[in-house]
Amino acid sequence: MTTPKKLYIKTYGCQMNVYDSERMVEALGGKGYVETKSPDDADMILLNTCHIREKAAEKVYSELGRYKDLKAENPDLKIGVAGCVAQAEGEEIIRRQPMVDLVVGPQSYHRLPAMEDAVRNGTKALDTDFPDDDKFDTLKKRAKAKRGPTAFLTVQEGCDKFCAFCVVPYTRGAEVSRPADRVIREAQELVECGVREITLLGQNVNAYNGHENGLAGLIWALDKVDGLERIRFTTSHPNDMDDALIEAHGTCDKLMPYLHLPVQAGSDRILKAMNRKHTAEAYIRLIEKIRAARPDLLLSGDFIVGFPGETDADFEDTMALIREVHYGQAYSFKYSTRPGTPAAEKPQLPDDVMDARLQSLQALLREQQTHTLDSMVGKEVSVLFEKSGREAGQMIGKSEYLHAVFAEADPSVQGEIRRVRIISANPNSLGGILV
Ligand code: 5AD
Ligand code: SF4
Repeated sequence: MTTPKKLYIKTYGCQMNVYDSERMVEALGGKGYVETKSPDDADMILLNTCHIREKAAEKVYSELGRYKDLKAENPDLKIGVAGCVAQAEGEEIIRRQPMVDLVVGPQSYHRLPAMEDAVRNGTKALDTDFPDDDKFDTLKKRAKAKRGPTAFLTVQEGCDKFCAFCVVPYTRGAEVSRPADRVIREAQELVECGVREITLLGQNVNAYNGHENGLAGLIWALDKVDGLERIRFTTSHPNDMDDALIEAHGTCDKLMPYLHLPVQAGSDRILKAMNRKHTAEAYIRLIEKIRAARPDLLLSGDFIVGFPGETDADFEDTMALIREVHYGQAYSFKYSTRPGTPAAEKPQLPDDVMDARLQSLQALLREQQTHTLDSMVGKEVSVLFEKSGREAGQMIGKSEYLHAVFAEADPSVQGEIRRVRIISANPNSLGGILV
């Protein structure tokens, strides 16, 4: 038997990259690779990258720099860049970092095994196509190994929305949905491996059209999968929240009461400049409708401060929207210029203005998150236990609202859903006791 080769894969960015990395490990498994947790003893290093903001992309080049010595010590070490930086920069990566052997985009990583042959033969391999063949059909079936209780499952990729600040429509391409029957089969296979909760992923997951009744149709089909207890989905666009999906939040027991629905800004002028194609008012009315269907829903969002042209008054509109909506959880970013996007042409705001706005916005969002966590104390929640906590005798899992919950429990609760009474709130988690 030949000794397996070792693959070190480092994942940046969103959950879709986490899913892609798993599939890349599986694809290279067919070439005799097993995953290793350290780059030091690897035969191949793959960086699965993110291009959404400038800092994320720069991190890739500084990380590559750190592998220079490893490559000098071991000339057989192959280094690859995958993901959205690979897609956006292509050959430029090899020009800037000649020690890179392989560059593969998010739509072509099913070709990794052939690319690996090429790099072992000493040639550089570059593939940033948007091929006609479906990568999910070409990829190996998912391994039948035992898995943890939660998993991601990509059902939709790409984006046709073209928000003026965003690189995704360029790096991930047009909106494409996987057929429902394939998604259901993959979900069944995940459940057979121990998965109890599946998060359906897509850059615009609620634009999913691989089922005749859209994402709601897929959720109802997955609702029938025995052994699957929980369904989540992310990320959604407000304009794709159809009535069937809103209704599912009120009627489908397996669909968890958590929704990530980014608005980005609260000023209509800025929303228009961002090409979001909805107003602040329309978003607020939509949230009201969703909360009418599921009153305890925990809402999460994304915000960008300092979009070109944003005035103090525009920023105040964003703050007002946040106060009105109230978020249980949120992500916020300073606007970052992305080459090739329409907003990159516009004059930028000074950094200190953006910094000050981000600070006030994050203070408000933190206040709302703390309030949400505090309000859970005394309530009973359902926790899907995932692993042991830091302290002995402690297990950790997620509530239906996606809060991390710690409780004293036997390790045998792993993979089980238990009722827990919340007794304490921490900045980012909750403590509870089994009931
Ligand atoms: N600058 C800052 N934040 C951005 N996002 C996307 N593009 C940019 C950019 N150019 C944020 C949006 C999006 C999240 C994934 O990243 O808020 O919802
Ligand atoms: Fe980017 Fe907008 Fe598409 Fe989201 S909806 S991926 S922010 S272009």
